[in-house]
Amino acid sequence: MIEHISIMSFTLQVLIFSSLPFIFALLALKSYLSSSKHHKNLPPSPPKLPLIGNLHQLGSSPHRALQAMAQTYGPLMLLRLGSVPVLVASSVEAAREIMKTHDLIFASRPSLNIPSKIFYGLKDIGFAQYGEYWRQVKSIAVLHLLSNKRVQSYRQVREEEVDLMMKKIQKADESVVNLSELLVSLTNNVICRVALGKRYDGRKFKELFARTGALVGCFSVGSYIPSLRWVDRLSGLERKTDEVVKELDEFLEGVIDEHVSKKGERVEYEDLVDVLLDIQRDNRTGFKLQKDMIKAIILDLFIGGTDTTFTSLEWAIAELLQHPRAMKELQQEARKIGQGKSMIVEEDLEKMPYLKAVLKEVLRLHTPLPLLVPHESTQDVKVLGYDIPSGTQVYINAWAIARDPSKWEAPENFIPERFLNSSIDYKGFHFELLPFGAGRRGCPGIQFAVVVNELVLANLVYKFDLALMGQEGLDMSEINGLTVHKKCPILVSANPY
Ligand code: HEM
Repeated sequence: MIEHISIMSFTLQVLIFSSLPFIFALLALKSYLSSSKHHKNLPPSPPKLPLIGNLHQLGSSPHRALQAMAQTYGPLMLLRLGSVPVLVASSVEAAREIMKTHDLIFASRPSLNIPSKIFYGLKDIGFAQYGEYWRQVKSIAVLHLLSNKRVQSYRQVREEEVDLMMKKIQKADESVVNLSELLVSLTNNVICRVALGKRYDGRKFKELFARTGALVGCFSVGSYIPSLRWVDRLSGLERKTDEVVKELDEFLEGVIDEHVSKKGERVEYEDLVDVLLDIQRDNRTGFKLQKDMIKAIILDLFIGGTDTTFTSLEWAIAELLQHPRAMKELQQEARKIGQGKSMIVEEDLEKMPYLKAVLKEVLRLHTPLPLLVPHESTQDVKVLGYDIPSGTQVYINAWAIARDPSKWEAPENFIPERFLNSSIDYKGFHFELLPFGAGRRGCPGIQFAVVVNELVLANLVYKFDLALMGQEGLDMSEINGLTVHKKCPILVSANPY
């Protein structure tokens, strides 16, 4: 018996001793792995508070706060918003690495609570995560909804709406014109007629879309600190979102029913709901387009296309009113091209280089979505030598890049002339000017937006001499919503030319 035990203990000792190198190797590997995790070369980070991280540092103008932080921490910073790691890119080089060199890795979007509810579980284009579904719906947008040919086909709608706005201004005679209000109506009417086939200009409709835009642009605590999701419930945010979702769905259901029932009738032009229903019917794209997807895509076009277009027009007029010399230059160009015609039409726009330069300068100084739409990485990757883990959210501070003094001369000044002899434009190839983003997630509505902006601006300055009403200068303060827009409306007197 004793012999048996001693044989056993001897075997045990042999086993332990022979395993020791293996155990040491395991411990060494574990310590190497955990130390390499801690010694990853992460981008610089400002100090953070427990639970909220850097959230408190964003303030009411995150693009400005982040620009100031980048001056201390550099063009690539890693913040923590609640529990979410957020990479902030504030230079041309950083933006190019993210949206060109590693575009595929950064082509996803974070899943945010409010957009998820509003866009039918992220079945839209703008918030859908990267993958086969997004590829399908983005190609529907690029090839069928927002292609050159399709945008051209709505020329009459745009010209009619611009003409209508001019008539309203003329009617105001010598009295004050609230240009901001007219520009909101115009952009709304254009998108309604193009997307839904008719104007919806009742107060209820406008309010519903204003509430939707505000919710999409608003910050939900639960998206960043999941353990505090109850705050969104307590603050009423969840209830407001649920109400909007219900009303939007009833509205969109009605729009689709109306389109289905009128099928076969002769229509003046095919609107975007018609196009989507056609794609659904003949299964053209090789995948089944469900009703919820159609509703989410239509909502995307509204939310993505209205506020952004209106905001850039409003800032354009504001800058021109502040810079009479630029206003005069643009007026001379328009009046030379218009030559007494009743209005400037779309063919004329190609002959107006100063107009194009004004719009570029406006989009540079007043990038409507200054941080674009957040991207998210789907793999570990190195950017400018730093390790960026998979699942990191990314903000590109396009607004700060467009004011970077190492890339732009007198970056804070409004100087349209800087674009006259320059090849820089906003289509996503020049990373110093990114109002529409770049790469796979770039905006598919550039042409749609630019032609409206150019047509409206050209005609406003062609037909009227605009002057501020009883104000010394214009209040240029901005306010953050879905886009960064002017805080105060533009009130002018408009004397017919
Ligand atoms: C001045 C007007 C506009 C500006 C400044 C603008 C800007 C942007 C920006 C910054 C993005 C995100 C890019 C990124 O994440 O890298 C975007 C995406 C998008 N925009 Fe626009 N946009 C404008 C007009 C429009 C219009 C008129 C439409 C459609 C009618 C539209 C539809 C979209 C859609 C569907 C996306 C999502 C693309 C995706 O995620 O793949 N936009 N836009």
